[in-house]
Amino acid sequence: MATFPVINLEKLNGDKRSATLEKINDACQNWGFFQVLDHGIPHDFLDTVERLTKEHYKTCMEQRFKELVATSKADLTDVDWESTLFLRHLPQSNLSEIPDLTDEYRKVIKEFAVKLEKLAEELLDLFCENLGLEKGYLKNAFNGTNGPTFATKVSNYPPCPTPDKIKGLRAHTDAGGIILLFQDPVVGGLQILKAGEWIDVPPMRHSIVINLGDQLEVISNGKYKSVEHQVMAQTEGTRMSIASFYNPGSDAVIYPAPALVENEAEEYPKYVFEDYMKVYAGTKFQAKEPRFQAIKAISTATA
Ligand code: OGA
Ligand code: NI
Repeated sequence: MATFPVINLEKLNGDKRSATLEKINDACQNWGFFQVLDHGIPHDFLDTVERLTKEHYKTCMEQRFKELVATSKADLTDVDWESTLFLRHLPQSNLSEIPDLTDEYRKVIKEFAVKLEKLAEELLDLFCENLGLEKGYLKNAFNGTNGPTFATKVSNYPPCPTPDKIKGLRAHTDAGGIILLFQDPVVGGLQILKAGEWIDVPPMRHSIVINLGDQLEVISNGKYKSVEHQVMAQTEGTRMSIASFYNPGSDAVIYPAPALVENEAEEYPKYVFEDYMKVYAGTKFQAKEPRFQAIKAISTATA
C-alpha cells in the first residue's frame, strides 16, 4: 500500500521543482491530504506553540473536560471525545476576547496564524500552477468582500477509557478551503479514508499536515477531492492538534473554475459560501454528495 505523502517544500527551489509539484498534484488528486516539511516555519517556534498549547490545556481546559464527562449521560452518541478552543484571525481577530490566554500564548498564536496564512497562500498558488489556473486564482476565489476567513481550532484529545464506544472526532470532510494541521508529535489518532480503508496520518515532529476542504473540490470541479477523516480516541496520552482553516469569505461566491469545466452536465454547484456553511452545520458528519445536491437546490447565487 502507498504510504502517506510527505513533501519537502524546500525542493521547490531547485532542480526537483517539477517532481515536487507532481507529488503535490498526486496528493491533491488521490489523497486529499499530505504533510509538508521545510515549510519555512522555524522548528523552535513550533516547539513553543506546542509547549504553550499543552500548558494552556493543563491550566485552563483539562478540569473543565473532566467535569463535562462526569456530568454527561453515558449513552450520548452525537459527541466527540475532544476538548476544543476556537479562535478567529480573519477577517477580524477575536483573540482579545478569549479569556484565560496568557499574553505570551496570545502573542504566539497570533504570530503562528500569520505564518500559516502565508503558507496557505503559497500552497494555493502551487495548486493553481498544478491545475493550470493563473497565479492568485484560488486566493481571489476565496476573497468575497472582506477577504478570506481564517480560524484556528485548538484541540486536545484526552485519554479515553472506552475508545471502542466514542471517537475523538467522528468522520467528516472539512467544509472550507485549505486546512493546516499541527498535530502532536507523539500521540497519533488521525486517520483518513482511502479506497475504503482507514489509513493513519503518522505523527511527525515539526511537519504540518495539509488537507483540502469541500470548496477546493468544487472550485477544481472535482479534480481535487476533500477526503473523509476521523480521530480515534486513545487510552493513553493526550493528543494535541491545532487545525487552522483558510476558508472563503462568508459572501464569496463559489463555483467551478470555468477553465476546469469540460462537461457542464457534471458541473459542481454555484452558491454563496455562508449558505454552504448553513447546510454543513447540520450535516457535518454525513457524506458530502447529498450536501452538494442540497446546496444546488437552495442556492440563490445566480449563474
Ligand atoms: C477538524 C479535524 C483533526 C485533528 O477539526 O476538522 O479534522 O487531528 N481535526 O484534530
Ligand atoms: Ni477535519
